[in-house]
Amino acid sequence: MRLPLQTQILVDEAIESLQSQINDTAIIACSGGIDSTVAAVLAHKAVGSMLHCVYVDTGLMRKNESQEVLSMFSDLGIKLKVVDASKRFFKSLSGVIDPEAKRKAIGEQFIRVFEDEQSRCGAKYLLQGTIAPDWIESGGGERDVIKSHHNVGGLPEDVNLIIVEPLREFYKDEVRQIARQLQIPSSERQPFPGPGLAVRVLGEITPDRVESCREACHIVETRIDEAASLGKCDLPWQYFAALLPVRSVGVHGDTRVHGETIVVRAVTSLDGMSARYSPLPQDLLAEISTEITNSLKGQVNRVVYDITHKPPGTIEWE
Ligand code: XMP
Repeated sequence: MRLPLQTQILVDEAIESLQSQINDTAIIACSGGIDSTVAAVLAHKAVGSMLHCVYVDTGLMRKNESQEVLSMFSDLGIKLKVVDASKRFFKSLSGVIDPEAKRKAIGEQFIRVFEDEQSRCGAKYLLQGTIAPDWIESGGGERDVIKSHHNVGGLPEDVNLIIVEPLREFYKDEVRQIARQLQIPSSERQPFPGPGLAVRVLGEITPDRVESCREACHIVETRIDEAASLGKCDLPWQYFAALLPVRSVGVHGDTRVHGETIVVRAVTSLDGMSARYSPLPQDLLAEISTEITNSLKGQVNRVVYDITHKPPGTIEWE
């Protein structure tokens, strides 16, 4: 664990390094997640108005996320431009089933949005909140590609912007410490992947299926937050739902339902590189299951709990 003084040295070094790398307009996509927020705050301190912050609404965000991110940036005193790109993201994902192909399609759309912005503001640099596990799992060094994290291996090759990655050598727990030092309110938020709910909707990505996953994620987050705040369980490191394209027969009242499956995932971890599934209380799981099947009547009729550690599983399902 680093002391506040050591963390301040890291912050000062990161700011100096950004000042030496950036001498013109730089774009950064701010999702509200801790990595991109820390990268944006450091860069804002380093190059001030040369930084152009964009919030890309991909249509793949969690419930209420857009409003929360906008209000956080307004509190941080950083101007954030909103780009509604949901239609183009859904179009590019239409009919795509393979997880790597989805990540590549998402990386590609992000770059096209940045290029549109670039033609408006003349940016030369693209700042990214890439952290060490992202590039390690994307096949950095000698490793096999586990997943092309969209901010690393998911980028197309013809990017016409110089990529700057101030957090490249840091792990999640270190980024959280830097966030606390910078008094960023999202420092205790659970991680959320760059490709958003796309990696939690297995099979075809349609607005309806994303909406089901969004609602299930919201229920899982709300119920677990509530239980943890009442001392009924420890707060897991990450907790969410994924929608599986597995249909099974169920019954609602007197009606047969052939619905899909939601899997609930909750893990403890330090840095996301390895994780253990969280043994949540049975009554909490039962409550979550009932609420999901009631809210998603007709679409989801089965809820399962994932009891896999990482390894051999990964935290997300795709
Ligand atoms: P996995 O699923 O690889 O995830 O065990 C480890 C941590 O990384 C998050 N994750 C991502 N974050 N871009 C990101 O910024 C991505 O493409 C991505 N994929 C996974 C995941 O939520 C977990 O916290």
